[in-house]
Amino acid sequence: MRLSIIGAGYVGLTTGACLAELGHHVICIDMNEERVARLRDGEVPIYEPDLHDLMTSNIGAGRLFFSADTATSVADADAVFIAVGTPSLVDGDIDLSFVQEAARGIAKVIKPNCVVVVKSTVVVGTCKALREIIAEERGALDFSIASNPEFLREGTAVSDFLEPERVVFGSDDPRACAVLEQIYKPLADRGVTVMRTSNANAELIKYSANAFLALKIGFINDVANLCEQVGGDVSAVAAGIGLDSRIGSAFLSAGPGFGGSCFPKDTRAFAATGRKHDAPQGLIETLIEGNEARSQMLAERVLAELGSDADGATIAVLGLAFKANTDDTRESPSLALIPWLQKAGCRIKAHDPKAMMEAAKQLDDISFCEDAYDAAKDSDGVIVLTEWDEYRRLDLARLAGTMRGSLLADYRNLWLPSDMTDLDLTYLSIGRPTIHHASGTAMVAKPAARKVERSIAAGSSAG
Ligand SMILES: NC(=O)c1ccc[n+]([C@@H]2O[C@H](COP(=O)([O-])OP(=O)(O)OC[C@H]3O[C@@H](n4cnc5c(N)ncnc54)[C@H](O)[C@@H]3O)[C@@H](O)[C@H]2O)c1
Repeated sequence: MRLSIIGAGYVGLTTGACLAELGHHVICIDMNEERVARLRDGEVPIYEPDLHDLMTSNIGAGRLFFSADTATSVADADAVFIAVGTPSLVDGDIDLSFVQEAARGIAKVIKPNCVVVVKSTVVVGTCKALREIIAEERGALDFSIASNPEFLREGTAVSDFLEPERVVFGSDDPRACAVLEQIYKPLADRGVTVMRTSNANAELIKYSANAFLALKIGFINDVANLCEQVGGDVSAVAAGIGLDSRIGSAFLSAGPGFGGSCFPKDTRAFAATGRKHDAPQGLIETLIEGNEARSQMLAERVLAELGSDADGATIAVLGLAFKANTDDTRESPSLALIPWLQKAGCRIKAHDPKAMMEAAKQLDDISFCEDAYDAAKDSDGVIVLTEWDEYRRLDLARLAGTMRGSLLADYRNLWLPSDMTDLDLTYLSIGRPTIHHASGTAMVAKPAARKVERSIAAGSSAG
């Protein structure tokens, strides 16, 4: 089939390369001409494992193309996928302006019987509204509209797309469903479950899935807070509850809170949709509040340990991406936490294997470092905020040896308290009591310090 994808970001590029891999003829379109020029030069403008190789082989096979010109690139398409951003408005509701603009852009040029497929994450009712936009622009044109939400995760996007647990699409038009069945036939033939449903259901499935996953993260973080106070170990608790197949072990890693380009904005949009339709999503409203407050709370734990030395302290932050294996810093917990430390007078040195360029656009007064050891050198404390494998493999004795102070805040639980036995470090982690270790004294576990005595500028989020 001939397919066009509007938006060559994380989702659009992965979708384009993977659909080409499934044998389709694909043109990826982006309004950012510089991005298109780089793509045409064989460069992948984002960091996503395996994507470069997949793109290169499909470009070579004559199935994958790039363009900045929507009009010429969608005219022959059997289906046009819209994969543009759907960020949050100031009030938390979804900003549909990019999706609407994309629909207007294709309305005048799609051929009769074309299927417009909304891959962007959109609130229920959006496909219906886009149908009206296209009909307004194009009058009597016969076309179909479908929702095909994307469930890929950055960092494993290619395998998530090519080996998904399910493909969901929804349309109230059987012709659109037939075209989507054809597009995804290679996956169905490999045994992937392809769920066909209504437009509204497909839109609701995406938000409900993300809201539920975010709830699991929020829940285990609340359990972690309790563990810190009462001497529990959240990893053991998570393992114990995860053995129950009704709960499952996925998404039960306590940490610095959820971030990224999806969960924060999608939970906000889900809550806003509930408010709009008089179906309040109280659980999600509370979840959002707790998650937004978490960065400040974790900064305060560090500041409380530093005490009166916090003002003027040098802190090394390891990890700026919202999670490992991506350069995406959108709503990264790290970027929300750093300003709380800066407000308290800390100087920040930072390192991330892939995300420093993106982070530099959003942070002020940061020294970026070559590697973790360089960041830790002469620092009073080190905070780990992204679970990169290269941090897991750090030589902790070497790291501790280069530091001026002795505070290690492991907010991804990369290590065990027992790994600190021979190190002269105070070790803070998530959902486990703080380990204070001073030379010549035994290791002692204490409940986590929560509040800083000195005042930090008010506000529930540093973002
Ligand atoms: N990133 C993820 O992990 C992920 C996963 C599942 C779903 N989603 C959803 O997919 C959608 C896209 O997310 P993303 O992370 O790929 O966004 P992104 O910001 O990485 O990419 C969007 C791209 O669309 C381009 N664009 C915007 N309007 C355009 C237009 N009218 N014509 C041509 N190009 C246009 C932008 O220049 C940008 O390159 C969002 O709705 C998101 O919620 C994202």
